[in-house]
Amino acid sequence: MTLLVGKVASLRGEMRPPSDKSITHRAYMFAAIASGDSVVRKPLRGEDCEATLRCLSQLGLAFEWMSEEEIRLRPAETWKQFAGKLDCGNSGTTMRLLSGLIASRDLDCTMIGDESLSRRPMKRIAEPLRYMGARIEGDTPPLHVVGREDLTGIDYKSPVASAQIKSCVLLAGLRASGTTSVSEPAPSRDHTERMLAAAGVPVRLHLGRVTVNGGTRPNGFEISVPGDVSSAAFFMVATALLPQSELIVRELGCNPLRTGILDSFADAGVPFWLDNERLELGETVKDLKVSTAPSLRPFRIEGDLVPRLIDEIPVLAVMATQCDGTSEIRDAKELRVKESDRIELVAAGLRAMGAKIDTFEDGMAITGPVKLEGANIDAHGDHRIAMAFAVAGLIAEGKTEIEGAESIKTSFPNFESELWRLCIV
Ligand code: S3P
Repeated sequence: MTLLVGKVASLRGEMRPPSDKSITHRAYMFAAIASGDSVVRKPLRGEDCEATLRCLSQLGLAFEWMSEEEIRLRPAETWKQFAGKLDCGNSGTTMRLLSGLIASRDLDCTMIGDESLSRRPMKRIAEPLRYMGARIEGDTPPLHVVGREDLTGIDYKSPVASAQIKSCVLLAGLRASGTTSVSEPAPSRDHTERMLAAAGVPVRLHLGRVTVNGGTRPNGFEISVPGDVSSAAFFMVATALLPQSELIVRELGCNPLRTGILDSFADAGVPFWLDNERLELGETVKDLKVSTAPSLRPFRIEGDLVPRLIDEIPVLAVMATQCDGTSEIRDAKELRVKESDRIELVAAGLRAMGAKIDTFEDGMAITGPVKLEGANIDAHGDHRIAMAFAVAGLIAEGKTEIEGAESIKTSFPNFESELWRLCIV
């Protein structure tokens, strides 16, 4: 599918972004291991989370949609051995977290994914799961996991700051002997820790090391999933870049390990306000107002900030083309193993639109401000690349055509209609 975007005058209005993808994945997974029924309201109905739900139901999770926005989930007494291959689609979170659940059960499963997922590294979760006693084959998908009921708890020092690795190991640790701990080079998103704790699992955090006890499981829980800052980010950046624009984002998930984009907004001079704070299964929710940036300073992303905005870097790179000076993104090598090599695709697309950009193994430097020109962009099936270039298209002269835009359905099914609803031509 091709998405065609042209220059618009401004963006104004109010949105409730699609629900948080990371939290929806975890809500389904934790419901599958809970001691009772759970209710999830407003889960994300994107393809990634539907893949998690489908795989879990193939393993025995029962569910019923009570309405468009509410699903009731019942864990299986014992998990079923699924005869086919578990299809994780485009979703790294599905494959990596599910591996932790399968590894700690008497199951023998093969997980597969689409072309993009089939290229992504799985050794990062296979290694700790092997230390715990599971058998895993496949450094890239298909991933064959032979689990066992008697895993051994480990103290794992992850070489990468990754919530997917951390969550995979902690989920396996819930059924391993003794305790299981994970530490990482910088703090990654902690939805797993917060949600498990809110559902009654003792989770200890000490000096950056998270620990769970074997033989514990969450109670049944209820959650209303907050809006996803990684989806709202496209509209937030568009608002900052377009003249006379203002956007109110309702029910925004504001987990401090996800709101790095607001640090970059503050650095660059994008005006924003937060209001109406509340808590949902351990997760902070707020309303946010963003408006046009009168001028934009260059900004720097590095170190501990990187995991706090890792998925927002493509659209922040678009913002950097409009900043007065050189913005730099470093320590972000992980971008090369996301749904695509996001460093190369961002650089290729922005160059085609006239931007000045240098790349490094771990990031990029972008010098602005430049007047962007519409171009033909290939998103290579990466939803965040497609949406970032849609934002670039809103400020560029002429037309921007984005190929591979069908991938947007994985995280933001109504992206295009929201764009046309909020943009003023
Ligand atoms: C996710 C964690 C991040 C993020 C991904 C979702 C999660 O990946 O990029 O979109 O739900 O845990 P890593 O943890 O591998 O950095």
